[in-house]
Amino acid sequence: MSFRTLALLAALASPVLAQAAERECAQSPGKVIEVCVFTKDGQAFYEVSKGGKVVLAPGGMGLSFAGEAQARYTGITAAKRAASDTSWEQPWGEQRIIRDNHSELTVSLAGDTPLNKSFDVTFRLFDDGLGFRYAYTAIPAGQAVAVTDDRTEFKPVGAYDAWWYEALGQERDEYLYKQTDARRITLAETPLTMREKGGLHLSFHEAALIDFPSMLLAGNGAGTYKAKLMPWADGTLAKKTGAFTTPWRTVLIGDTAGALADSRIELNLNEPSKLADTSWIKPGKYVGVWWEMHLQKSTWGSGPIHGATTENTKRYIDFAAKYGFDGVLVEGWNKGWDGDWIANGDKFSFTQAYPDFDIKAITDYARAKGVKLIGHNETAGAVPNYEAQLEDAMKLYESVGVSQVKTGYVRHSGTILDQDGQRQWFAGQYMVRHNLHVAEVAARHRISIDAHEPVKDTGLRRTWPNMLSREGARGQEFNAWGDPTNPPEHTVIIPFTRMLAGPMDFTPGVFDVVHGKTELTRRGQSTIATQLALYVVLYSPIHMAADLLENYEARPDAFQFIRDVPTDWETSKTLQGQVGDYVVVARQQRGAKDWFLGALTDEQPRKLSQKLDFLAPGKRYEAQIYRDGPWADFRTNPAALTVEKKVVTAKDSLDLDMAPGGGAAVRFKILD
Ligand code: NOJ
Ligand code: CA
Repeated sequence: MSFRTLALLAALASPVLAQAAERECAQSPGKVIEVCVFTKDGQAFYEVSKGGKVVLAPGGMGLSFAGEAQARYTGITAAKRAASDTSWEQPWGEQRIIRDNHSELTVSLAGDTPLNKSFDVTFRLFDDGLGFRYAYTAIPAGQAVAVTDDRTEFKPVGAYDAWWYEALGQERDEYLYKQTDARRITLAETPLTMREKGGLHLSFHEAALIDFPSMLLAGNGAGTYKAKLMPWADGTLAKKTGAFTTPWRTVLIGDTAGALADSRIELNLNEPSKLADTSWIKPGKYVGVWWEMHLQKSTWGSGPIHGATTENTKRYIDFAAKYGFDGVLVEGWNKGWDGDWIANGDKFSFTQAYPDFDIKAITDYARAKGVKLIGHNETAGAVPNYEAQLEDAMKLYESVGVSQVKTGYVRHSGTILDQDGQRQWFAGQYMVRHNLHVAEVAARHRISIDAHEPVKDTGLRRTWPNMLSREGARGQEFNAWGDPTNPPEHTVIIPFTRMLAGPMDFTPGVFDVVHGKTELTRRGQSTIATQLALYVVLYSPIHMAADLLENYEARPDAFQFIRDVPTDWETSKTLQGQVGDYVVVARQQRGAKDWFLGALTDEQPRKLSQKLDFLAPGKRYEAQIYRDGPWADFRTNPAALTVEKKVVTAKDSLDLDMAPGGGAAVRFKILD
């Protein structure tokens, strides 16, 4: 038994049961972050400091329920403390071993209404932030309650800028971020990242969102951000029965943008895996019958240019086998795509293929070549239709050797119809339940899920590791459609916003960014080096090589990086970064000694000097550098790429010379 385990057991065996004081405080293990809880004038407050300086001024806490008035909190009745320092291993991930070092404070609060008579709030304090959640444990078993307000407030002290987009928009989380004075926030999705003029970075989000609505944050124009929960059709926020615990409300607090990106609080606040055997869950890379539809070269629906034919799929399988890809995604294989499929989502079959797609022949062919077919379930938000077929569908896929399914919910948020014909938001409690239900059914059939138009990630992959990846932001597909396509700053904003939630299936690797368009806002706004860097910068256990196959065969120089880059890591470090300006990330391949680096800039050309002190000391590496070529520019010359090799050690620095909208990708191949 290690010293750390002994210390943990000692801490857990003797929780300090303090006589409740009027104000209860606790500090993170390294005494960096402190929280204090108190009641005043009938309200319950928490206050957060970093290094002795108040970061979050006293903010409200607690929930309100239908059928009773807003509670007045009269005091703290008990306080309990604990500490824990453990490490755990991810079956796959951005970092294999994760340390969970936190202290804990649970405060019991008394209120003057029946449901708020007594509830607990538990804080977990880490040196890089905190999480807290409410436990309404006194509600009798079987009693139905309806949450009508979440009184949680976040009150950052000082002047902050924020990166955000308006919540409850019809395109869910697929919006460009804007940077404004944080006080201009009306209603924002989380993760909501802010930077103080003095440099402090905060990000507000939640962890372990289970059977509860997503939290949004509403600004009041004066720097207070209050929780708003995505409601049911009848305006109720959450429907619960008996005692319950809310998701964790999380605050990352860092001196740099990189500190936010390297925090593991999100995962640490989720429960350990519920799946005893995770050996069947495989990270990997895939190609697919996908971009050709977005470029309108083939169709999802049946007809003369149907994309999902046996013949076309075999072409992709051959390519995958030749170049070492694990999977081939095929969209439009199943009946239901003809006509207005978004309006007719209840017509989708998830078991019947179009006649020109022979699922048995295809999966036999793929198996013989060591490649897997990746399933696709576009639901168009017709959730009852999908749920009715879910078990049969997963059973079929399992029987033919499909072990990964991409799901999709293309429908305007707020118009998803439940079984009662009620209109639901894309991430209210109804869809939160549905997303997890799909993952649970899939797990029973040893199938992993990659959800598009998903409920935002809150670290549930720790508990259900078959929740491999998801979309939940503007991905590459917008670079096919416009208007506008993603500007260069998009991919230097999301590493510090969307990606703080978890992996994203961005589908990088489009080399022909122009794809025949003339207007900048109707084609990809990046260089080839940028597209390569995305594989490292944007963490996902599954990454697509999204472009048309012929575009890879035309650029073997650049394609080599996609072939070499892994999607499973021993460790990850954000080395440099400013939200919306640039980012440099290094990751060490899991089960190997090689390192990979990705760097991106916005529309500004940028030269960064990067120390290589993350490499193993005393070892030599061949740096295989893919950088913007002479005169590269996302506007005028996106395809210019220089590939060069040099021997480096941990004592060296590397100049990253990035073009406007450019980037750099490097493999450090160990030599000795
Ligand atoms: C939206 C998804 O994000 C995209 O990847 C997919 O091709 C379409 N829906 C069709 O399902
Ligand atoms: Ca999408």
